[in-house]
Amino acid sequence: MATILSVSGSPSPTSRTTRLLRHLDERLRQHGHEVTTLDVRTLPAQALLGADLRHPAITGAADLFARADGVVIGTPVYKAAYSGLLKSLLDLLPQYALAGKTVLPLATGGSRAHVLAIDYALRPVLSSMGASHIVPGWFTLDTDVAADDHGSPLVAPAAAAALEQVTDHFSATLGGRTGTLTLAESL
Ligand SMILES: Cc1cc2nc3c(=O)[nH]c(=O)nc-3n(C[C@H](O)[C@H](O)[C@H](O)COP(=O)(O)O)c2cc1C
Repeated sequence: MATILSVSGSPSPTSRTTRLLRHLDERLRQHGHEVTTLDVRTLPAQALLGADLRHPAITGAADLFARADGVVIGTPVYKAAYSGLLKSLLDLLPQYALAGKTVLPLATGGSRAHVLAIDYALRPVLSSMGASHIVPGWFTLDTDVAADDHGSPLVAPAAAAALEQVTDHFSATLGGRTGTLTLAESL
């Protein structure tokens, strides 16, 4: 099974994008993959903004990318594109940090008007970083993502079903366990 890095590019401490990723991470684990997470907001701002390529947190993040077979890149849509926080990390990675990797791009946003932000904004950046395969991405409306009293992700059923399809396709591309998960497995 594959090693997958799940990256959230939201600066929000209560991020819907990150909640969505945690939901998806669990499904990828059920498919037999090893999933590591990286929330860019936890990296030191001075290292990110000052392009401190030798900072241990930045080299550590670069190592996580290097070790992954597959990468999930999640971002909120900000001003019709991906977040500046996500770009601040991608700019510090080697030019071909995604070479040989399969990438799943995901976005959350407040308006369906920006559903194509993944394709016109994020996808070209991932391509320029050498991603060998960028599977079809998915946009989720922010109103479809919430959290329960314990902070666990709650995704509206229709949005969750659509997300599961793209997740399962990504998983299958990486050689994950195939077949439909039973209801018990997917809870
Ligand atoms: C600064 C800012 C800019 C935003 N710009 C857009 C936008 O252009 N299009 C859109 O659909 N949503 C936009 N939104 C809404 C967010 O994309 C949406 O609420 C998203 O789910 C937030 O994700 P997060 O909780 O992970 O940060 C914007 C939100 C903020 C804070």
